[in-house]
Amino acid sequence: MIHRPRRLRKNPIIRELIAETRLSKDMFIYPYFVVKGKGIIQPIDAMPGISRFSVDELVKDVERGLKLGVNKILLFGVGEDKFEDAHSSYDKNSVISDAIIQLKKNFGDSLYICTDVCLCAYTTHGHCGILHDDYVDNDSSLEILAKMALSHARAGADMVAPSDMMDGRIAAMRKMLDENNFVNTPIMSYATKYASAYYGPFREAADSAPGKGDRKSYQMDFRNLNESLREAKLDEAEGADIVMVKPALAYLDVIRAVRENTHLPVACYNVSAEYTMVKVAAQANFIDEQKIVMENMYAFTRAGANIIISYHVRDILKNNWL
Ligand code: PBG
Ligand code: ZN
Repeated sequence: MIHRPRRLRKNPIIRELIAETRLSKDMFIYPYFVVKGKGIIQPIDAMPGISRFSVDELVKDVERGLKLGVNKILLFGVGEDKFEDAHSSYDKNSVISDAIIQLKKNFGDSLYICTDVCLCAYTTHGHCGILHDDYVDNDSSLEILAKMALSHARAGADMVAPSDMMDGRIAAMRKMLDENNFVNTPIMSYATKYASAYYGPFREAADSAPGKGDRKSYQMDFRNLNESLREAKLDEAEGADIVMVKPALAYLDVIRAVRENTHLPVACYNVSAEYTMVKVAAQANFIDEQKIVMENMYAFTRAGANIIISYHVRDILKNNWL
């Protein structure tokens, strides 16, 4: 026998030498849900280990996280007053603006703050854009979304991450940011975001479930792959700095395809139900949490992701799983 692949698997040292993918804590972004009020740490039932924080508690938790190396976060504002026109989404006194200001005051540039830009937590109907006759109207949503991105940038956000899936939103936000002198604020686009049941626990966490209907008229159909490349290309052309694939675990082929078709960094979002499935199975002792989590993280990397957004990040760094 000439070919014996097992030669290169003989012991941990040689296995480490030839490993094709490496993971680093620098690749991780950790999501947070922020609510109004004081002294609030509200565990989310459907996401064991994840809570909603009021800004004061958020600051304390981020400080603990920073010591572990969690220095990039993605913020979601929860529980704001909801309106048909979602104007609370760009209020300069929104909970998200407050959170950004307090975090920057405490941690300055040692913390990199990304913010989710979408209207679903701010509309009475829970859709990601403005509703006209039961249809999510694309063009009237763009202005609100752009204002929301600008309000985050004004508060001090380092990067904005639009997750609404309206057509043309990257161009609208880029223009709005540039016209207001935020030329250096990058946009991480949820470029290929599928209509997915894997967002179920998140919608409980963010109180953002659509009251009526679903998101299929704006989020992508999970039967499609070529369309993901079209979406990523459009967002790149409109000025996105990073393109994201979401969800991640059931979409490794999409991560790979997008990676091979852009020169931008590719992020993936390991979403709420992907997290919950692992946590619940681990709590029941049916699986080994560390091994499953790390196998998933390497799978994202092997598929081509350069950036991983995951609720597991805190556990990975706290328990030294890297
Ligand atoms: C808002 C948004 C969602 C997620 C991120 N931003 C929910 C949705 O589109 O319904 C999902 C994140 C997760 O499931 O962890 N549009
Ligand atoms: Zn939304």
